[in-house]
Amino acid sequence: MELGSAWYPEHWPEERWPEDVRLMREAGMTVSRIAEFAWSTMEPRDGVFEFGWLERAIDLLAENGLRAVLGTPTAAPPAWLTQAHPETLAMEPNGRRAQHGNRCHYCVNSPRYHEFCYRIADEMGRRFGTHPNVMGWQIDNEYNRVCYCDVCAGRFREFLRERYGSLEELNSRWSTAYWSQTYTDWDQIPMPVGGHNPGLMLEMKRFVTDSYRRFQKLQISALRQYVPADRWITHNFMGWFDGFDHYELARDLDLASWDCYVGTGHHDYLGIGATHDLTRGFKRRGFWLMETQPGSVNWSRINNVLDRGEVRAMAWTAVAHGAEAVLYWQWRSAPGGQEQYHGTVVGQDGEPRPLYEEIQQIGRDFAAASQVLDGSEVKANAAILNSYGDRWSIHWQRHHAEFDYVVHAGAYYRPLASRNIPVDIISSEEELSGYKLVVAPCLLMLSSAEVANLVRYVEGGGHLVLTIRSGMKDEWNALLPSKQPGPLTVLTGARAEEFYALDEPVPVEGEGPLSFHGTSAIWAERLMPIDEGTQVLARFGKCNGWLDGRPAITMRTHGMGRAYYVGAWLDDASQRALMQWVATEAGVAPLMDSPDGVEVARRVRPGGDEVYVVVNHTPNPAVLSLPWSAVDQLTGAAASGSLQLEAYGVAVLVKQ
Ligand code: GAL
Repeated sequence: MELGSAWYPEHWPEERWPEDVRLMREAGMTVSRIAEFAWSTMEPRDGVFEFGWLERAIDLLAENGLRAVLGTPTAAPPAWLTQAHPETLAMEPNGRRAQHGNRCHYCVNSPRYHEFCYRIADEMGRRFGTHPNVMGWQIDNEYNRVCYCDVCAGRFREFLRERYGSLEELNSRWSTAYWSQTYTDWDQIPMPVGGHNPGLMLEMKRFVTDSYRRFQKLQISALRQYVPADRWITHNFMGWFDGFDHYELARDLDLASWDCYVGTGHHDYLGIGATHDLTRGFKRRGFWLMETQPGSVNWSRINNVLDRGEVRAMAWTAVAHGAEAVLYWQWRSAPGGQEQYHGTVVGQDGEPRPLYEEIQQIGRDFAAASQVLDGSEVKANAAILNSYGDRWSIHWQRHHAEFDYVVHAGAYYRPLASRNIPVDIISSEEELSGYKLVVAPCLLMLSSAEVANLVRYVEGGGHLVLTIRSGMKDEWNALLPSKQPGPLTVLTGARAEEFYALDEPVPVEGEGPLSFHGTSAIWAERLMPIDEGTQVLARFGKCNGWLDGRPAITMRTHGMGRAYYVGAWLDDASQRALMQWVATEAGVAPLMDSPDGVEVARRVRPGGDEVYVVVNHTPNPAVLSLPWSAVDQLTGAAASGSLQLEAYGVAVLVKQ
């Protein structure tokens, strides 16, 4: 377990560094991420490199027992570069170049920018690749921008040409006869801005993904000439950010990491827990929390501080979900610069802020628990599938302003996670045979590979839950010539005769083994069993006439497994009842019962021993009944029968 912060030695006179690093050490920090915005300090003039300062900073960290993660600085090009080569600046959709001086203002496809990025990465790799105190690398920082310049437009058309081969194929896949879009020359195809042809919009997202992947690969190839294989290369993603397909970018990384901020309000451990699970799913292994907030941020509506104890609870939630490191952003605010008011570990006077004490506590925690957590992993037998294509497509045509793909997936995640059932969130293309239960929320666009994967899964004994908006489109974002769920009807034995965006919630009644009286809001699908083995589990009540008395949820055995088809977006209580029953049927059990707001998670050690991380997310004391005796690794105290947790209290239990 690593603890650390983002540190910017380039903002400070070197005489100050020893004091900062001493305070880091005394906080129990073991790592520092540096250099990710320091291009103008590392290369003050074109081709002139100054790494001496960075080497001294890395050495100072080493002397104090902290290792360094180095970032390539390409999110912040120097002014001499963008002045001499303005074509490296990203172009906004309105044709204006981005202004210098913020971040990520580069054109991701600019050949000139690629040359400069390769060179700085190469120089950094040459100088620090084998440095014993550099444990890993971060490429760039939070990719996010889309550039609309002519170079990008040209690349986009090449990309389309490679994918479609001919304009006939493209015109046919995108139904371009619609509104006279028919293309007779590749150069006629625009980079879409705002609403456009759904096929074109999907390819634009794939193109942005491909552009960042190439940009990232270029830097990885520069570094890997020098960086030994046992040192990882990562990128710090932004949780559910939807600008590109994260699974594609993660392919070329050794480790996934993300930047976790609450902003206004408090730590929603289920929502943020899902984002940890999402990030763990990028590489299907432990991840790094590369940045998180030391109390507060500066960019939200209200930049309130987290309660005393909450920062620690938040760190432990990350660990509970597979984090191997927690780093605070940032160590200290520069006197100038755009983020003067952001939370930090030391204040503007260079002295520890009140939160420092809590971070020291986390440092002691990590030191006490590192050994038992070493090499351990989160193991789940339930999974939720995630698809960027489905999410984009739905968000472009929500059909109901409140239809949100991530919120909908959350409606399946929360009832499981709140009962302490571990969940993996993974790509819809992953191998599924290890799971007892798989939920595929809004699996809108189907490829034949995905269909084969799901059919194989259910035939092999898996329990699959399909939800609203499933199986409606092909992988080019065109409507399938069949009713939903298209080729997955072979599993459900039921199809959706019609879908309805709802202005008012409609009643839904459980049937047979399901006995809830609830509602569906936002969306409803009128299901129709077409196989005699299909059982109805819920029906809509009297509402718009079309849905009255029609099946809302069905279930069918297929092969050795089962497929559920949920045509409703249920209220919370009914959804809990549904998912509790489905989980039980699938043989998925909670790790332990716990009071509301108390999370119990598990990490499994290489030999199979289990470590339980317990976090009280409430500002009040709580008592957890323990089914077995344990030792709390953080205090050394034995626990049996029940465990007392203080407000925001944490325990790391090793079963005896
Ligand atoms: C992140 C970014 C950091 C810092 C932080 C502030 O998005 O990577 O450099 O700006 O936000 O919350």
